[in-house]
Amino acid sequence: MEPAIKYHLIKTEKHTGARLGEIETPHGTFPTPIFMPVGTQATVKSMSPEELEDIGADIILSNTYHLWVRPGEDIIKEAGGLHKFMNWKKGILTDSGGFQVFSLANLRDISEEGVHFRNEISGAKMFLSPEKAIQIENDLGPDIMMSFDECPPFFESYEYVKHSVERTSRWAERGLKAHQNPDWQALFGIVQGAGFKALREQSAKDLVSMDFPGYSIGGLSVGESKDEMNRVLSFTTPMLPENKPRYLMGVGSPDALIDGVMRGIDMFDCVLPTRIARNGTCMTSHGRLVVKNAKYARDFTPLDDNCQCYTCRNYTRAYVRHLIKTNESFGIRLTSIHNIYFLVHLMKQVHQAIIEDNLLEFRENFFEEYGYNKE
Ligand code: GUN
Ligand code: ZN
Repeated sequence: MEPAIKYHLIKTEKHTGARLGEIETPHGTFPTPIFMPVGTQATVKSMSPEELEDIGADIILSNTYHLWVRPGEDIIKEAGGLHKFMNWKKGILTDSGGFQVFSLANLRDISEEGVHFRNEISGAKMFLSPEKAIQIENDLGPDIMMSFDECPPFFESYEYVKHSVERTSRWAERGLKAHQNPDWQALFGIVQGAGFKALREQSAKDLVSMDFPGYSIGGLSVGESKDEMNRVLSFTTPMLPENKPRYLMGVGSPDALIDGVMRGIDMFDCVLPTRIARNGTCMTSHGRLVVKNAKYARDFTPLDDNCQCYTCRNYTRAYVRHLIKTNESFGIRLTSIHNIYFLVHLMKQVHQAIIEDNLLEFRENFFEEYGYNKE
C-alpha cells in the first residue's frame, strides 16, 4: 500500500539541524518547514479560503474536538468531508481532541479506556477515546490526523509522566488499529514525556516501532520557558527517523519557529497570529506593532514596510487602526491576513537560508530586528 503522504528530505543546513523538505499529500505538495494557520471551527477566523490561498498557505489545522461538538462529524461527512464542507482545496491536518479536552473541558476523568468530561457549553456528558477520536478524524477526512494522546503538565512528577507516556503509547497503538483509511489519511504519533529525556526517549521508541508516517512533538509551549522547550527539542528530534516529517504542536511565535527549525522541526501550528490580530497586534519585520496606539492615528504608511501582503499593499496603519478601534470586522480581516502572511513568508525566508547555509546569520539578524535580543 502506498502511504497517504510522502516526505522527501531535500537538504540539511550545514551548521544547524534545519531540514528543507517536501510533503506530498492528496491535496497538494508543499515545502517544509511550514507554518499551518489554525482553523479550529472549520474556518481560519475572519478569512476566506481564497484569501488563505492567495497568502500562500498550503495546509491548515482544524480540531476534532470542536467539530465533533458542533456541528458533529456526521454532518461534515455527509457534506463530503471537511475540504468540501469549508471549500478548502489544499491540505488539512486535524488535532485529535486530546489536548483540547485536557485544556478546555471540565470534570474530566482520565482512565485507560479514555476521557470522560462535560461539554463546557451544553453541560452534556461526553467520552473521548483513541477509537472515537480516530472515527471522528476518519469522518472529517483530513490529509493528516493525530493520535489521541495525553498532554501532561510540563512540571508533573517523573512517575506521573512515565505512566502517562506509557498510556499514550497504548492509545497510539489502539488508534492505529482503529484507523480505516491509511491509504489516504496519514496518522501521526505524538511524542510526550514533558522535560524528561528518558521519557521522551521511551515515548519516541514506542511510537517509532509502530512505524507512523510522521511524528508530532507534544507537551511543549505549555508554560515552560523557551530555553526549556529548546532543550527538549534538541534531544528529542534526533530520536525520530530522518525520513519522516516532525511536527511541533502549538508553536508559532517567530523566534520559536526559527529555533524549532534549527532543531529539525518541519511543521508548526499556532493560534497566535490570528489571535493577536483580533486585538490589533501585528507581527512585523521590526517587531510587534500595536496598531491601536495613538501614535499611528496619522501614520499613512503600511503595517510593515517590508511586507507584500494584500493589507500592506493597499491600506495604511491609520486606516487599520481606525477599523480596529471601531470594531469593524474588516479591520480584523486585514490584520489576520497580514499576520498569517508574515509567518508564511518567514518560512519562505527560512527555506532560502537553509539553501544558502546561512540560517544562523538569518536568525541573528531577524532576532535583532524583531527586538528579541533586547528582552
Ligand atoms: N497541541 C499542542 N500541544 C499538543 C499536545 O501535546 N497534544 C495534542 N494532541 N495537541 C497539542
Ligand atoms: Zn502585510
